[in-house]
Amino acid sequence: TPKGIDLKEEILKLKKEKNAVILAHYYVDGEIQEIADYVGDSLGLAQAAESTTADMIVFCGVHFMGETAKILNPHKKVVIPDFNAGCSLADSAPKEEFAAFKAQHPDAVVVSYINCTADIKAMTDIICTSSNAVKIVESIPAEKEIIFAPDANLGRYVAKKTGRDLILWDGACIVHIDISLEKLKKVREENPNALLVAHPECKEIILSQADFIGSTTALLKFVEESDNQEFIVATEAGILHKMKMAVPHKKLIPAPANEQNSCACSECPYMKMNTLEKLYNSMFYELPEINVPEEVRIPALKAVKAMLEISK
Ligand code: 13P
Ligand code: SF4
Repeated sequence: TPKGIDLKEEILKLKKEKNAVILAHYYVDGEIQEIADYVGDSLGLAQAAESTTADMIVFCGVHFMGETAKILNPHKKVVIPDFNAGCSLADSAPKEEFAAFKAQHPDAVVVSYINCTADIKAMTDIICTSSNAVKIVESIPAEKEIIFAPDANLGRYVAKKTGRDLILWDGACIVHIDISLEKLKKVREENPNALLVAHPECKEIILSQADFIGSTTALLKFVEESDNQEFIVATEAGILHKMKMAVPHKKLIPAPANEQNSCACSECPYMKMNTLEKLYNSMFYELPEINVPEEVRIPALKAVKAMLEISK
């Protein structure tokens, strides 16, 4: 990247020149959220990717999100700032092992959380996100067996909510399971008036204490609409950027994590791989590009479309 250039300005210029759209997840750095055309949760981002008329989609999030955008837009170029921005949930379900697991339950309907690879999506009947998982599971006839993958914490939460017996794949999000129960107890004692809001990727023991559980967008909405003035937020700390903007007068405390990092809270190392410089380079060079082979994309698209249809 040439020295001394104003990256934000150059990114906006490239965006116009190349008719690109920048989609960003709430977990990426605030400075990237600021220049994005759309910031949202996984469902909102998939919907934005589905409806865009841009020629190039620049996805500031993680690899599986770029893949989902490509699955929906085979004729558009999809780039991501860092090809190594993966996801522990997607990594937890390798293709061959998942195929073997599925073969053990040949009659089960496969519901997969969108946080999985295109290969897993291709073996899935219907995708879900944290904002529609309950609704998606409820849409499946009661007599059907259901495999739920790859997040076991979300799966247990959905099983409890729907009363359905789900066959769970044992995956987890390293960020959400790192929230420290012990430290959280202390923070709650110090802030007795704060409500605990949590993402369903958190462990059951955290969810059982939560006053509200939901996707990132749902947490944001709850904090905005609640009359309460203080919240402990149990999800990736990037969401606090938008929350602070939405409710500047409220007290927002990120839930403490075991990991000792700069914020002593939970941060996704993959989401944080997105930087302004890498974003600029990905737009300038149109690399790294995401591609999904047609034999994977077509069945994966069917599973993604099935979700989008229910979530209209
Ligand atoms: P949502 O934004 O759908 O809540 O997902 C959270 C997440 O972990 C994305 O990787
Ligand atoms: Fe994956 Fe967790 Fe990071 Fe989301 S926060 S991208 S689920 S590792």
